[in-house]
Amino acid sequence: MATTPSSTDRGQWSGKLGFILAAAGSAIGLGNVWRFPTSTAQGGGGLFVFIYLFFVFSIGVPVILAELSLGRATKKNPVGAFAKLAPSSWWPAVGGLGVLTGFGILAFYAVIAGWTVGYLSQALTGAYGVPLSAEESGRIFTEMISSPGRAVFLTGAFMLLTIWVVRGGIAKGIERTTKILMPVLFALLILLALRAMTLPGGMEGVAFMFQPDFSELSAGVVLGALGQAFFSLSLGMGAMITYGSYFPDGENLPFSGVSVAIFDTLIAILAGLIIFPALFAAGGDIESSGPGLVFVVLPTVFGTLPAGGLLAIAFYALLAIAALTSTISLLEVVVSYFIDEKGWSRSKAAWTIGVACFVLAIPSALSNGAVPALANIFGTDWLTLNSIVWGNYSLSIGAFLTCIFVGWKWGMPKTFEVLQQGGHALPGKGALGMLIMVICPLAIVVTLAFIVITGNYL
Ligand code: PHE
Repeated sequence: MATTPSSTDRGQWSGKLGFILAAAGSAIGLGNVWRFPTSTAQGGGGLFVFIYLFFVFSIGVPVILAELSLGRATKKNPVGAFAKLAPSSWWPAVGGLGVLTGFGILAFYAVIAGWTVGYLSQALTGAYGVPLSAEESGRIFTEMISSPGRAVFLTGAFMLLTIWVVRGGIAKGIERTTKILMPVLFALLILLALRAMTLPGGMEGVAFMFQPDFSELSAGVVLGALGQAFFSLSLGMGAMITYGSYFPDGENLPFSGVSVAIFDTLIAILAGLIIFPALFAAGGDIESSGPGLVFVVLPTVFGTLPAGGLLAIAFYALLAIAALTSTISLLEVVVSYFIDEKGWSRSKAAWTIGVACFVLAIPSALSNGAVPALANIFGTDWLTLNSIVWGNYSLSIGAFLTCIFVGWKWGMPKTFEVLQQGGHALPGKGALGMLIMVICPLAIVVTLAFIVITGNYL
């Protein structure tokens, strides 16, 4: 299992497929099923989706290849990777920002993940096979998350699960979980999307998702789409550096990276094709949608399906697992840092960081109903604020610095060499170099500059 003598607690994926599944496991999660529809609703629909798709392929793909190369070349955690390629410089701080961001994201992500477990337990008692209006469904949601004990308990339970898998190590823990369940999730999403789109009024939701209204264009919408592209692909904080560090020698890295981006995007679009048609069919309100959107809308679909109760159980179980393969990668980034750089054992790192993260997650767990003071901070709830700060700003800044490092400090020739390792073809080198060196950093800086100019921070 060990790949480098200095870090016996490291591991390696069993092969290309193992890697694709595990990296897709990191990428696919609540970012697709929860954050994408929520951000789309807040970003005005089609315009947001349009910009998001553009960013995934023009910026997300180059950045995923850049991060994977850094990991593959160094076989290190994000901090170690920068330190190895640029010793005695401040570059490792970029990895440090990534580790911090992973921690910050996990501390709100675990809360939503906890909600999925709450919904799963309700589905198991048969709550969702029955017809539900948007109002009734909204009431169930509010009831569930406004009990402080319950919200904190669910978050804690989810963190425990994450710690448990991360403690078990790379290949065994992560791959096995992902291998079987991702395809099943995909199939179930297709089924639900077909159902939602054929509900009366459902096609209005499809129109909302795909008809861009250019009058909605603002710096906030663009940053939201950019942040969402990074968030959904697990970029900008070193998760893909870490996963790339376990990439098997000789396998095709560019192919694997692009596959992950395509799968991830398909799942997000499918999730949107469930949520928006269902929301329009149920007569729900787009304007007032917050982090609860997906949780309120989905139960209205299950009630319209034969065996809807069983489908709800399968869906929430799969969603919880998709969330778990993402929380694993978030915790893994922080854990691999402490293993590699501080010499901690895997078990000590997983427990210490996992518990600390749980404690920091408590305010987010209480910010959607339990503690009113946490529901309105700078005009939004504490959880959404964290999602914006870590998800949009921190990831964008991290991705910007990664592009500058790879393009200008480490250099494209070395990057191409690593990408082609194993004798695999890399078409479009010129374009890729241009994107990593110029287009991506420029797009991020311009977006952030517009945010500052317009003062439209949230
Ligand atoms: N990409 C994950 C999701 O969509 C979230 C995530 C972000 C995971 C950043 C790791 C790093 O759910």
